[in-house]
Amino acid sequence: MGFGKEFIWGAATAACQVEGAAKEEGKGPHIWDIFAAHKGKIFGGHTPEYSTDHYHRWKDDVMIMKEMGLRAYRFSISWTRILPDGTGRINQKGIDFYNHLIDELMAGGIEPYITLYHWDLPYALHLQGGWSNRKVVDWFAGYAKIIAECFSDRVTHYFTLNEPQGFVGLGYLLGMHAPGQQVAPEEGFQIAHNILLAHGAAVKALREYAKQPIQIGVASCGDVCFPDSDKKENVEAAREKMFSAAEDPRGMGNCVTWFADPIYLGHYPEDGLKKYGKYLPHYTDMDMEAICQPLDFMGQNIYQENRIYLDKDGNIKKADLYEGFPTTACGWPVTPECMYWGTKFLFERYGLPVYISENGISCHDVISLDGRVHDPGRIDYMERYLAQLQRTVEDGIPVRGYFAWSLLDNYEWASGYSQRFGLIYVDYRTKERIWKDSAFWYKDKIAKESGEICYDQSV
Ligand code: BGC
Repeated sequence: MGFGKEFIWGAATAACQVEGAAKEEGKGPHIWDIFAAHKGKIFGGHTPEYSTDHYHRWKDDVMIMKEMGLRAYRFSISWTRILPDGTGRINQKGIDFYNHLIDELMAGGIEPYITLYHWDLPYALHLQGGWSNRKVVDWFAGYAKIIAECFSDRVTHYFTLNEPQGFVGLGYLLGMHAPGQQVAPEEGFQIAHNILLAHGAAVKALREYAKQPIQIGVASCGDVCFPDSDKKENVEAAREKMFSAAEDPRGMGNCVTWFADPIYLGHYPEDGLKKYGKYLPHYTDMDMEAICQPLDFMGQNIYQENRIYLDKDGNIKKADLYEGFPTTACGWPVTPECMYWGTKFLFERYGLPVYISENGISCHDVISLDGRVHDPGRIDYMERYLAQLQRTVEDGIPVRGYFAWSLLDNYEWASGYSQRFGLIYVDYRTKERIWKDSAFWYKDKIAKESGEICYDQSV
C-alpha cells in the first residue's frame, strides 16, 4: 500500500523568504525588512530585499512546479504587499500579484494553499505594539477578510498562521528572530493569547467572507517526541512528554499543547496552567470559545525532534545523540521516526486530518563541475521521512498531504542565504534556478505514487 492517489504532493515557500521586491510596487515594510537591516542580527548581514526574486519570476517558478508534477503549492501572502500599513489602504498591485500567481497555478493544475501569516508582521503595526496589542485581533481579522474577498473564489485551502510557537519563541522570547525582543514572561503569554485570538478571528472572517466552502487549518511546530523503541513504556513516555509543558516559561515557545489545546480543544493545558498561571493575562471563557473555531485539518511542520525513553527509575528522559549522529547542514539531527509518531500522537489527541505542512533539510549544495547540483543527502532524508509517513498512512491515520520545504533555496531567516533548503538551487548572483537531483527524484516519486508511472511487472 502506498500513499494513495488522492494524496496531495506539494512544496511550500513563504513570502518574505522568496519574493524579494521588498520595496517595490507599494509594498510596506514588515518587521523582517527592518530587523535584517540591523547590524549583527543576520548571518552575513543578508536581507530579504531581493531574495530569489520570485516576485518577478513567479511564472517561471510555476512552470517548474508544473514540470515537477506538484499537485499543490503552499505559499504565504505578504500582509504589507496587500495592506502596506497593516490596516486601511489596500495596495491593488499586491492583490494583482497574488491573483496572477493563483491563476497561473490553477491553469497548471496546481492547487494553491494560502498561509496568511508567515512571520512578516507589518512594521506599522509593530510600532503600535504588534502582537502585544490586543487590537491585533481585529487587524488580523480585517486582513483575513480581504484575503477571503479577493481569493476565495478560487482558493479553497488556508492556513491562518505558520508556527505560532516558532515566532513567539524565536522573535519575542529569545530575540533571535524579528522583532528581536526578549519580553518578560507576562508579555510573552499576552502575545501568545493575542495570537490565538487572532487565529480564531481570522477563521471566522475567512468563513464569513468566503465565496465558496473553504477548508482552514493552522501550521504548527513544537517539540514533537517519539519513542526510543516501540516498547509500550517508551511510547507512553514520548506521548506524555510531547503533550506536556516545559518548566521554564520560555519553553512555552516550543510547547505543542499551549497553542494546540486552545485551538482544537478550547482550553489551555492543565499542567501549563499550573506552571505558568502567575504570568497569564486575564482571559474569559468567551476568549476560549473565540479561539476554538471549527477547523478542517491540522498542519504540522516536522524537522528534527526528540527521542524519548523511560529510564529504569521511571523518569522520562530525552536520549542523547550518539557521537557522529547524522545531522543536516544546519546541525539539526535527522530523526525520521518523528514523522510516524508525531503525526500519530497528534491525530490521537486532536482527531483532525493532518497535512505535513513542511518537511525538508538544508544541505551543503554546490554547483558541480558538470553544472548540476547533486544532493544525495536530501534524497536520502526525504526517503526516510516519507517511509515513516507512509507507516502512518498505512495505520489508517488520515494524512492528506505533504509539502516539501522548500520549493526553492531561500532566505533562511537569521541564517540569511547560508542554508539551502530548496529542491531547486538558486544562484543568488543571477537568480538562475537549477534543478537539484532531489527535484528530479521528487518528480519521480510523485509520478509513481500518483500512478502515472507503471512498472513492468515482468522484469
Ligand atoms: C519555517 C520556515 C523555515 C524552515 C527551516 C520552519 O520552521 O516555517 O520558514 O525556513 O522551518 O528553518
